[in-house]
Amino acid sequence: MGGHVRCAAGVGVVGEGAGPGHEPCDVDPVRRCARVRRNVSRSPREQSGRPARIAAGGVGESDGELRQPAPQLPLAPGSRLPGVLEHLVGMERPPRVEQSLRLVEGLGRLPDDALGRAFGTLGAVGKRAAEGVAGAGVARAARGIPVAAGGHRSTVSARRVGGRTVPSQPSPTVPSVTAPHDHRLPHDDLGASWRSVRPRPAGRHLDSAACSRQSHRALEAAAHHARYEAELGGYVAEASADHLLQQGRSVLGGLVGMAAADVAFVESAQAALVTLLTGWRLPAGSRVACLPGEYAPNVAQLRAHGLRTEPLPVDGLGRADVEAVERLLTDDPPRVVHLTHIGSHRGLLQPAAEIAVLCRAAGVPLVLDAAQSLGHVDVDLGADVVYSTSRKWLAGPRGVGMLFVRPAVAAQLTPVLAEPEGVPPLRAFESDEAHVAGRVGLVVAVGDHLAAGPDRVRARLAALGRATREIVDGAGGWTIVEPVDEPTATTTLRPPDGVDVVATRARLLNDHGLVTTAIGPQRAPGEMTGPVLRISPHVDATVEDLEAVAAAL
Ligand SMILES: Cc1ncc(COP(=O)(O)O)c(C=O)c1O
Repeated sequence: MGGHVRCAAGVGVVGEGAGPGHEPCDVDPVRRCARVRRNVSRSPREQSGRPARIAAGGVGESDGELRQPAPQLPLAPGSRLPGVLEHLVGMERPPRVEQSLRLVEGLGRLPDDALGRAFGTLGAVGKRAAEGVAGAGVARAARGIPVAAGGHRSTVSARRVGGRTVPSQPSPTVPSVTAPHDHRLPHDDLGASWRSVRPRPAGRHLDSAACSRQSHRALEAAAHHARYEAELGGYVAEASADHLLQQGRSVLGGLVGMAAADVAFVESAQAALVTLLTGWRLPAGSRVACLPGEYAPNVAQLRAHGLRTEPLPVDGLGRADVEAVERLLTDDPPRVVHLTHIGSHRGLLQPAAEIAVLCRAAGVPLVLDAAQSLGHVDVDLGADVVYSTSRKWLAGPRGVGMLFVRPAVAAQLTPVLAEPEGVPPLRAFESDEAHVAGRVGLVVAVGDHLAAGPDRVRARLAALGRATREIVDGAGGWTIVEPVDEPTATTTLRPPDGVDVVATRARLLNDHGLVTTAIGPQRAPGEMTGPVLRISPHVDATVEDLEAVAAAL
């Protein structure tokens, strides 16, 4: 995995600065400087002397494929990029330095949430959710079932839980498999187009729960921005990308049902959680209910901030028991519920929409870890705080994460240094010193995701998860952990007696070119009883890839 990721992150081409379409003659810093519209002295907080909280990532080796013109994106029949994104990702021509700056300017002329509005199916994009969050001193808001009218939501049917109507487990529409071994996958066009706009993989990449493969355009957008930094100066370049990044906040916010103003770019999901907890300053000893199978670094962060974790009730698989959660919230409500939507160690989808309804009714804020779910399943579910990362299912660059906070919780956060007037309060929580090129790459990756159609992505990922489980279960004595039809693409396998998972993962990589992850029980010690092998294909995977895993096992 490591070598592969380094290759995918190979923005080192910037350092080489050459190649077709990237000749220095394209670059006229004076002309381009004149095009930079924003007052650059305002934004970069470097000038305030504020210390960087988190260091930017390094630059890897160059990838020869970056020098080639970006291929056209073969869009699915009938699907179209929103106008803004079409411009952004350079549908007509390979992106070039000059062209890209022009498009940044073009984006700058648009209102902040125009990108979201342009993509009508997002429905909630750019719309600030009106409901409040009940925390200390905040009135409880009655809230309906959080099912958006927009077409991108999964179908969520209602059912009664206790005295309330809540949506049942979200389930993307997965075409039923007609015969036990009929592994037909929906949206083959999507898989083919996803593959064709990326560097050729060195092997079979089945590891998106760790880190996905970026598209040429995301790689090039990041590389171009890094090049601007060298040509224009980092802060001039950052100012030139300001409007593009704002469009990105708008679209990302829309994916979780929040507005651009509710979004802060940070460096990772962990950094987002730390940023939230640092700003929230909850009293020491406050109770935070989380899954017994909570991601261990999250538990460590909660405890490091003086909070007391206690288990949410779950069933035998580790899925939250909604009715028992309702009882907990009624009888002895914690200060916060923290829910990891899909685990790192298990491809189980938690009933987040149902829990969001219950939390809202109980006046308990819900924090959703969407590191494994954004770009994978529907995350617009009514949580009060969501955090995630770029590099997994959205297939953006490493070193970029996102924190989404609804205004009622944002009002409870205290920044270390106040942000200047005129920007949303949450901007005070964005890291100053940042891999801005990575953020630019993420915005392009999110454009790819929208163009592909989030519903189609989810349906194909769910079908791939099912096919994985059907194909690999029992191979070589390995057994799957998740229910076969769990609507996620992540599958974990328990080894047969005496088989070492770490050694198997290495063998699959070295002998078969299969990229997977070995997960030790320390990742979720409250739930795992032994190590597992994780297989997490993205939409480009084929049945043949999965059969190769079974054969190798
Ligand atoms: C469920 C979950 N939460 C949080 C994280 C942390 O993400 P990051 O590495 O971006 O901090 C991960 C990473 O694998 C994860 O799987």
